[in-house]
Amino acid sequence: MRIDIITVLPELLKSPFEASILKRAIDANLVSVHFHNLRDYATDKHKSVDDTQFGGGAGMVMTVEPIDKCISGLKAERDYDEVIYMTPDGETLNQGIANHLSLKGNIIILCGHYKGIDQRVRDYFITKEISIGDYVLSGGELGAAVLCDAIIRLIPGVLGNETSALTDSFQDGLLAPPIYTKPREYKGMKVPEVLFSGNFPEIEKWREEEAYKRTKARRPDLLDN
Ligand code: ADE
Repeated sequence: MRIDIITVLPELLKSPFEASILKRAIDANLVSVHFHNLRDYATDKHKSVDDTQFGGGAGMVMTVEPIDKCISGLKAERDYDEVIYMTPDGETLNQGIANHLSLKGNIIILCGHYKGIDQRVRDYFITKEISIGDYVLSGGELGAAVLCDAIIRLIPGVLGNETSALTDSFQDGLLAPPIYTKPREYKGMKVPEVLFSGNFPEIEKWREEEAYKRTKARRPDLLDN
C-alpha cells in the first residue's frame, strides 16, 4: 500500500511514522508513506496556499491551484483508489472504514487548515471525506495520523500475531473483553478462575459474555444494529 499525505505542516505528521508498529510496517515495505508540502506547489513568490473568502467572512480558505497541482502530479504517476480529505464534517471514522481502506492499493490524504478548502476541491478532486470525531482540530494532520495508524495496523503482516487485529474491540461489533496476565493474584486482587480452567470453550464463552456486558454498559449504541 502507498499513502501520499498532502499538508502544509509535514513536520507535525512525521514522528508517528518513525516509531513502533508504523515504522516496522514501513521498514518491512508493507506500506510506504510520502509527505508533500503544499507550499512547494504554490506559484506566487510568497508561497501562499490560502486566501480570503468570497462573499466575506472570517478565516482564510485554502486555494484550488496548489492542491490541483499536487494531486494531478501524483495521479499522473499512478492510479489512486481514494483521495481523502480530513475534515470535521466528513464521515466519522470507525473500524469498518479502517478495514475497508486497509485493502486499498494507493490513497491520497489531504489535510485541511485555516477555515477549510475551496469547495471546488471537494467537488472535483476528493472521493471521501473523513472526520476522526465530533470536535474541531487546528488542522487535518493529527486526524491523518490517526487514520493512517488505524489503517496500517490492519495490513496483513503488520501485526506480529495475525489474529490480534481480529480480536480488537469493534472487529465483531463489540468492545473487547477484560484481559489479564501474571501474577495470578496481586495484593488480594484476583484473576477470574475460569481463565485457569483449561476449558477453552468455557473460556471463549466467558469472553463473549464479558464483551457483551462491557458493550451493553459502555456503548449500548453498538448493540442497536
Ligand atoms: N480537521 C479538523 N478537525 C478535524 C476532525 N475532527 N477530523 C478530521 N480532520 C479534522
